[in-house]
Amino acid sequence: MAGPIPAQSSFATAGESSPASRLSLRRPDDWHVHLRDGSLLQAVAPATARQFGRAIVMPNLNPPITTVAAAVAYRERIYAALPDGAAFTPLMTAYLTDTIDPAELERGHAAGVFSACKLYPANATTNSAAGVSDLAKLTRVFETLERIALPLLIHGEVTDGAVDIFDREAVFIERHLEPLLRRHPGLKVVLEHITTAEAADFVAAAGPQLAATITPHHLHINRNALFQGGLRPDLYCLPVAKRERHRLALVAAATSGNPKFFLGTDSAPHPRHAKEAACGCAGIYNAPYAIESYAMVFEAEGQLGRLEAFASEFGPRFYGLEPNPGQITLVREPHTVPPRLHANDAAGVAIALVPFHAGAVLPWRLLD
Ligand code: DOR
Ligand code: ZN
Repeated sequence: MAGPIPAQSSFATAGESSPASRLSLRRPDDWHVHLRDGSLLQAVAPATARQFGRAIVMPNLNPPITTVAAAVAYRERIYAALPDGAAFTPLMTAYLTDTIDPAELERGHAAGVFSACKLYPANATTNSAAGVSDLAKLTRVFETLERIALPLLIHGEVTDGAVDIFDREAVFIERHLEPLLRRHPGLKVVLEHITTAEAADFVAAAGPQLAATITPHHLHINRNALFQGGLRPDLYCLPVAKRERHRLALVAAATSGNPKFFLGTDSAPHPRHAKEAACGCAGIYNAPYAIESYAMVFEAEGQLGRLEAFASEFGPRFYGLEPNPGQITLVREPHTVPPRLHANDAAGVAIALVPFHAGAVLPWRLLD
């Protein structure tokens, strides 16, 4: 695997001393997104397709996507939800259960339907009740994935109630991930939406079989944000945001030019009424302004020149795909993110979604 890339400037500036006013990037991909289904799919899919050429689509529907047929049907529903002419390819994933048949995964891979498999520890997060209760039950699955080089995407948190929620990722790495990589040295693994310095360090030190995605929200917020001015359901996601030192480690990893870290938004929309509830859902809806959000972080670090590799090159390299043709362009044009976005549910009743950065001014705007 290639080492860190040097910082480079790939954007136009009006003059030596003024900041860039336009930033063109090879069209990026989102290596982790929740597109949902039904009316929510209709509402959110266009936002992802507007920014990204491809996206790894999470399979945690209810019921989850566990068969090739279900993935093909879901892919059709995604295509049907896209605006005419959208140049967007959904990359489908299989949801691993204790009893999933490895032959089904192999068939889905051979048919070009499954781009990866997703491992949710049972009850770790939204729609994960059918997830994996014990990694030991999946030995044959892991052997198959290793043989066919189908990536395994992991929600890396233990569900042990005795482990503090802020420690669940670090404990997962120690208890489960490290032994798994040792048992299956040929398995390609993505540790999803990392949130800790422990995860960033572990991924950086591991061999080329392991990479990680990093979300915009974990680059912007620490756990204080969840309680700023009151309880903030719009900033609650899993894994939950951690201390500031962890956020800083994630920013350093994302902007380092190390190809083991790449873009995955974990955009996870829930209607506002389901988040602002007695038992609110986990998930942050960041898709509409995702690339603008990442650009802010890279610019603050003086590393805008490394955004393209993080967003558009390292992901395809890990997955063994070509980068996208075409480009997107961001312009420096401050704009305010709406406090709410609106959609209709299946019965035509309006539902509200609160986007990440609601009400904030973003310095960059994606051109249509
Ligand atoms: O915050 C989250 N929301 N984390 C997950 O792992 C799942 C996701 C969802 O599906 O809502
Ligand atoms: Zn997710």
